[in-house]
Amino acid sequence: MKVLVTGGAGFIGSHIVDELVCKGYEAVIVDNLSTGKKENINPKAKFYEQNIVDSSLIRVFTKEKPDYVIHQAAQVDVQASIKDPIFDAKVNILGFLNVLECCVKSNVKKIVCASSAAVYGKPKYLPIDENHPLNPESGYGLTKSVMSRYLGIYHQLYGLNYTVLRYSNVYGPRQDAGGEGGVVAIFINKLLSNKDLFIFGNGEQTRDFIFVKDAAHANIMALEKGDNAVLNISSKTQISIQGLFERIKYLTKKEKEPIYTESRKGDILHSCLDNTNAKKILHWEPVWSLDDGLRDTINYYINIYGGK
Ligand SMILES: NC(=O)c1ccc[n+]([C@@H]2O[C@H](COP(=O)([O-])OP(=O)(O)OC[C@H]3O[C@@H](n4cnc5c(N)ncnc54)[C@H](O)[C@@H]3O)[C@@H](O)[C@H]2O)c1
Repeated sequence: MKVLVTGGAGFIGSHIVDELVCKGYEAVIVDNLSTGKKENINPKAKFYEQNIVDSSLIRVFTKEKPDYVIHQAAQVDVQASIKDPIFDAKVNILGFLNVLECCVKSNVKKIVCASSAAVYGKPKYLPIDENHPLNPESGYGLTKSVMSRYLGIYHQLYGLNYTVLRYSNVYGPRQDAGGEGGVVAIFINKLLSNKDLFIFGNGEQTRDFIFVKDAAHANIMALEKGDNAVLNISSKTQISIQGLFERIKYLTKKEKEPIYTESRKGDILHSCLDNTNAKKILHWEPVWSLDDGLRDTINYYINIYGGK
């Protein structure tokens, strides 16, 4: 079985490729390396440096004839989607549509797509299940919510099967510590390098973190299960940002106190996704505890930065 992974040089995509290779699938990566890295690329996978927006994408599909597609490539920065919604829509809507068209033209059996908790906006109740209203508050959340509507239409028109996975906060090795997103990566790197570390507000805001290898595994399970379903992928466990800081401080054995700054405008106070449906439908469940996942991530950063 051949699986084409868009964004396979990125944080989550590269872990998906690793598991595919490990399980004996043939893996093909399409990535333009805009945020992905060559060093993330599994040497057993075939790599195409290719923008998903370009019409030349069909050549990769025609040549490789993948059985399945796992779509991770995206403009992933929420703030960037507010500053430049046109670029966000180009990648996350037009690029995605280009991938869909290629799937139909080359008879792909199924596409598994990465979505986000950002589609829900401010929670009306917790934990958020898949029936929660969609009230995205950024271009990013909106473009992610549009994906499932297109998938429904492509399924009706062309019989293309799909699963949409709405991830909560994914963390783990290879996450970019420089960007806006990965609070885990940022905390670990600040602690290891003994740099000032900031917490927005009082740190009592809570999030639901899922380890990247658990998120990757959900994608592999979705190749065979969960046809035409939209599923939350999360740990369904809330931890405060202060609590997260304390765990990382304990595990890195570093003595440092955070600096508390003003809350960010629009930041959601509490967020937690219900993963009941994914467990039932995909026969998947998170197996990494937060401490084990944090240890694995800390070891990764110690190895690449020598703990500096
Ligand atoms: N990290 C999270 O917590 C999180 C949460 C919810 C959803 N997601 C979604 O998961 C997916 C993977 O995100 P990630 O965290 O691994 O980010 P990432 O930036 O590490 O991965 C995205 C990959 O897509 C590639 N890419 C971007 N634009 C492209 C284009 N036009 N053509 C080809 N390749 C392109 C990048 O080079 C990168 O390798 C994304 O769809 C993201 O929206 C991530």
